[in-house]
Amino acid sequence: MRSSCYWRLVKLLAASALLVLSAQIFFSTTSKPPPKPSALSVEEYRLLSPQTYQYHLNEPAVCRDRSPFLLFMVPVSPVEAAARQAVRSTWGAPAPGRDSLTLFYVGLPEGGQGSSSQDELEEESRRHGDIIQMNFQDSYQNLTIKTMMMMNWLSTHCPNASYAMKVDADIFVNVLYLIRRLSSSPRQGFITGSVISDGRPRRDSNSKWHVSKDLYPDDSFPPYVSGAGYVFSTDLAPRISWASRFVRMIPLEDVYVGLCLHVLDVRPVYCRSLTLRNLFEIRQLEYDRCTFAKLVIVNGFKPPQLLHVWQDFSKGHSSC
Ligand SMILES: *[C@@H]1O[C@H](CO)[C@@H](O)[C@H](O)[C@H]1NC(C)=O
Ligand SMILES: *[C@@H]1O[C@H](CO)[C@@H](O)[C@H](O)[C@H]1NC(C)=O
Repeated sequence: MRSSCYWRLVKLLAASALLVLSAQIFFSTTSKPPPKPSALSVEEYRLLSPQTYQYHLNEPAVCRDRSPFLLFMVPVSPVEAAARQAVRSTWGAPAPGRDSLTLFYVGLPEGGQGSSSQDELEEESRRHGDIIQMNFQDSYQNLTIKTMMMMNWLSTHCPNASYAMKVDADIFVNVLYLIRRLSSSPRQGFITGSVISDGRPRRDSNSKWHVSKDLYPDDSFPPYVSGAGYVFSTDLAPRISWASRFVRMIPLEDVYVGLCLHVLDVRPVYCRSLTLRNLFEIRQLEYDRCTFAKLVIVNGFKPPQLLHVWQDFSKGHSSC
């Protein structure tokens, strides 16, 4: 009797030691807790605050009396009319069965207001009613400003959308598959795509993605979703806008969103198939109808290619 009691005690001690140990391993492999945020100075925040800029073109009523299931938000340069047209006539067209909507987000073209690019853009906007423009210079460096403008637009003008997808114009989107996957996804605090969890700032000043130590002293980035295309529940838009008051602007818009998510303690979710295939293919991939049918996005299409691929894809992907 006594010895069995003793053995039970030993087992209990061993088990609790194991528990403590595994808890330690578990917690040390999850990410650092988010830092206590400290607000940016007025000057630092002014740079990317949507309040700094004015709408030049807006569509404030597109979501009135309407709660789209999925809103495609496409950042695009003002002069890329062909890319917008390709999107409108492919995945950007209203999806059958579910309410979807596509809008394009632009800054000012070179030459600004009064330039011929601006005149053409305004003409296109009158024809299609799907262009939102703010008065900051449209450039690669300013994409973070554009992304924050998109978050602000979404929370102001279309808060009842279920999901939004930030997606570039040169992407192939398998809309029906995406909608099918989203139908069983969380409705809140959800962001998914191709998660990059080992990102580091490039200090080489010749790199397109260069970030100086002054701007970002840490030597790693928190997990973020690749900017080519990511999908999120709409409740995150106002939360990311709020978090941006604590995060200094860096010119990498997808990393920037990751830094805001870190402040919010929201972890982006990898979008994978049952066989763990990444469904947000951010590399270029040779077109094959049945390969594309099993992916959500594929990267790297010029407008004529997108039209061409779409034509074949819509014809026969359901038989894959
Ligand atoms: C969103 O939906 C709620 C409840 O369904 C409604 O009261 C509100 O007016 C809607 N907001 C917009 C901007 O459509
Ligand atoms: C970003 O936009 C602001 C506001 O228009 C402008 O002053 C600045 O030069 C732009 N930066 C780049 C790198 O284009």
